[in-house]
Amino acid sequence: MSRIDSLLAVMTIEEKIGQLAMLAAGFSVTGPVLATDVEESVRQGRAGSLLNLYGQDATNRLQRIALEETRLKIPILFGFDVVHGHRTVFPIPLAETASFDPALWERTARIAASEAAADGIALTFAPMLDVSRDPRWGRMAEGAGEDPLVTSLVAEAKVRGFQGASLGARDAVAATVKHFVAYGAAVAGRDYASTDMSERTLREVYLPPFEASMRAGAAAVMPAFSDLSGVPMTANGPLLNGWLRGEAGFEGVVISDYNAIAELVVHGVAADLGEAAAQALNAGVDIDMMSNAYVEGLPVALERGLVAVEAIDTAVRRVLTLKERLGLFDDPFRRDSMQPVDRPRLREAAREAARRSIVLLTHRNDVLPLKAEPMRIAVLGPLADAATDMMGSWSGAGEAKDTVTILTGLREARPDSEVRYARGVGVDREDEIGPGNAIEVARASDIVILCLGESRDMSGEAASRSGLDLPGDQANFARSVLALGRPTIVLLSSGRPLAVPWLFERADAVLATWFCGSEAGHAIADILTGRASPTASLPVTWPRSVGQVPIFLGERPSGRPASDQHYTSKYQDLPTTPLFPFGHGLTYGRFIYSAVQAEPRNAKRGDTIVLSIDVENQGAREAEETIFVFSRKPVARVARPLLELKAFTKLFLRPGEKGRAVVMLPVEALRFPGLDLKPAVEPGEYDLLVGGSADRSTLMSARVTIEA
Ligand code: NOJ
Repeated sequence: MSRIDSLLAVMTIEEKIGQLAMLAAGFSVTGPVLATDVEESVRQGRAGSLLNLYGQDATNRLQRIALEETRLKIPILFGFDVVHGHRTVFPIPLAETASFDPALWERTARIAASEAAADGIALTFAPMLDVSRDPRWGRMAEGAGEDPLVTSLVAEAKVRGFQGASLGARDAVAATVKHFVAYGAAVAGRDYASTDMSERTLREVYLPPFEASMRAGAAAVMPAFSDLSGVPMTANGPLLNGWLRGEAGFEGVVISDYNAIAELVVHGVAADLGEAAAQALNAGVDIDMMSNAYVEGLPVALERGLVAVEAIDTAVRRVLTLKERLGLFDDPFRRDSMQPVDRPRLREAAREAARRSIVLLTHRNDVLPLKAEPMRIAVLGPLADAATDMMGSWSGAGEAKDTVTILTGLREARPDSEVRYARGVGVDREDEIGPGNAIEVARASDIVILCLGESRDMSGEAASRSGLDLPGDQANFARSVLALGRPTIVLLSSGRPLAVPWLFERADAVLATWFCGSEAGHAIADILTGRASPTASLPVTWPRSVGQVPIFLGERPSGRPASDQHYTSKYQDLPTTPLFPFGHGLTYGRFIYSAVQAEPRNAKRGDTIVLSIDVENQGAREAEETIFVFSRKPVARVARPLLELKAFTKLFLRPGEKGRAVVMLPVEALRFPGLDLKPAVEPGEYDLLVGGSADRSTLMSARVTIEA
């Protein structure tokens, strides 16, 4: 008999249910603290896993209780939100996606996993795979933006990175892909709100990243808090048992979100905890995170005949299997023996990741990179010296004291120059401080670096905003500074696009610096001084105004596309185009696309189309261009979006250099769900469009015909 069968054969129902319960340990400002009731629950076998506890002292102490003081000696599974770094904090996921660099996406997850594992963690609640097209939704910051292909590639890279070659390795952590599914489509951009959509959109946009994560072997899945067309995801049998475990063949563990099972009562689908527990378990949820619904509700549900013991056994088996795959039975303290991490190497990786995440949005008057001569630099604004904010929304075990601010980074990079700082204004109104001497500092400078945006808690969970403007009094402050007429570079720290067209018109350069983690200040200084050239591109469309939301590259054509004619699809008060398209991002070079060729012109299923793209850097500096390949099927039985992203690649060119990028596109990549919702390649003509962003007016195209 296998170890798991032997265990199941002797477990009491309480012990079984205990394995399905995940409890949280608390935090104090100095680190994790243990509530005595958590310790007691472990002792009684009522907590098979714990979250929010890290550090070997704390995890080992609890593990010892499980191994020495419980009847069955089943090890505990420790989970934590290691989302964009553990002790070394990397850029928030939206920012890191902007690097369009799958190897980097994987590397940072690998590092985060090894740091977390050394802290006793065996499971992370990441990556977050929620496609999101509404910047009001604060959780856009935690995901990979608007596009299903990009999110799918991030899914694969992150799962590989966290889990490594084998879950049993000492430095591996199990990945939990979340939030299954469509959470990013929250109505009105309000977190936790309802979602509703066609099955086509679900299959074309929201499910593919989860499918990709299954291919990469994700160990766990977390259902979303939200409901889809009235059925909360925590109780959504058709999608959890049906699609996930059926169609997608998932064999791992489903872990509820925090308190989500008990919230089925508040959703209005269950009358009490007994019904809530039964609905979740029967839908396929194995672990109850922090709602106590399984511990209290499952015995009631059993009594009422709402669940079968076999269903409980199945869930327990999955949980024990995960523990076994992680090597916890054989070596529960194995993570102790890990070598101390090589900090300088990790800091360098964090700096590189941050540099590759910063998007140069606008640039005029040659203000960048900064001139080499000594100068008077004014560093102003509420985000200039904001270590905590730079860490972003999921800073893991990161600490502000280990985080480099923009001010520190610039001072280190330019010891020759006089770098003067004034905060000038708070992020929001509560935090207000008058301009003080900021205007004087700006007036007495040769160049102004204006650090504006959001604080880190303005995006992330439960952080939706109804507007996309600069919070507080920052707009007035910025206008006063800009009115001085000094060359001004704006650094925007935020977890979402900010719709501030006036700022882009008036500043000499604007960079999206997001929240770039432990090395934010060094990386920003690298870009400003020209030690590195910007190379990142937007993973989301940047609207002119919140009124354009949702705005994204995959829009469908309409029978009356926007034009000068009256009865067309447009606004009376705004253009239909965004401020910046998906993929936008300038470099210090100047890339001109001269030709695109597709071979063969006539292809059939199973073939691979080879695209050759000729590009020249006509700028004065070396730089790396991100090249996007989109497809468009002008005529199809189900109208296709105006653009569908199919691939991207990078090309590094010196000044004056010409280069060719080659992209291999399997014909199968042109599949889409037909009238019957089954994915297939529809024969006919396809345009393959190539360029530096999704701005349709700039793309070069090649036509191919797919034979029947
Ligand atoms: C709630 C969040 O929705 C989820 O993403 C996270 O993993 C859990 N809390 C645990 O912290």
